[in-house]
Amino acid sequence: MKILIIGDIVGRPGRNAVKALVPKLRDELKYDLFIANAENSAGGKGITFDTMNELLDSGVDVITTGDHVYQQSCAAAALDIPQVIRPLNYPDAAPGAGWQIVETDNGIKVAVVNLIGRVFMKPVDCPFKAIEKILAEIHQQTKIVVVDFHAEATSEKIAMGWFLDGRVSAVCGTHTHVQTADNRILANGTACLTDLGMTGARNSILGCEVAPVLNHFLTGMPNRYKIAKENVWLTGALIDIDEITGKAGSIELVKKNLN
Ligand SMILES: [Fe+2]
Ligand SMILES: [Fe+2]
Repeated sequence: MKILIIGDIVGRPGRNAVKALVPKLRDELKYDLFIANAENSAGGKGITFDTMNELLDSGVDVITTGDHVYQQSCAAAALDIPQVIRPLNYPDAAPGAGWQIVETDNGIKVAVVNLIGRVFMKPVDCPFKAIEKILAEIHQQTKIVVVDFHAEATSEKIAMGWFLDGRVSAVCGTHTHVQTADNRILANGTACLTDLGMTGARNSILGCEVAPVLNHFLTGMPNRYKIAKENVWLTGALIDIDEITGKAGSIELVKKNLN
């Protein structure tokens, strides 16, 4: 089976790109499941009930998030949608679930797990221990497991890949908004990619208009960032997974311009 997974959708330009590109992607990539990180999809920060439904209606099957998940006051309602998950290693009391099992149209069960890193990020529970705790329970239901590890440090993301090698189908990073070119299958069959990149405007700084962000770096003053609109791309990966063993056969980079 094939799974398409894409990096952080930024604002309306990112959401519109998903909507516009899905028919073409379905046709070209022939994927069975579409996973998207949408932590920046509502106005660039966070998620809302309406934007999540918009993405699900556009053809996304499972939505993962990250450090911006609770930025909008209505995030809890968005996380009530079963297909929308938040990092597993947040405190138990935080709204939402950290993993979900979904079924493809062909009846194949896929577990999607969302984790968040601790290096150069706010303190949270250990992501390694958090997934270790739930893996046996997931494996009772399916061997096909895809992990979105939302983290800043390359080393932490690659370490997670090796930690889970042979036990999950794929470990893909998000959060930096820059797609890396280290897509590979590890020794025991886990597909790995340090970062899936961004689905948003590239004439930008991580999806935001250049001037306010640049001004912040030049002056140190806080600025109101705006979502950039020019030169929109969708980036991510297409992963081929053996349905019986759960091992990955290939992981290819996906990079599509809206125009
Ligand atoms: Fe992000
Ligand atoms: Fe993030």
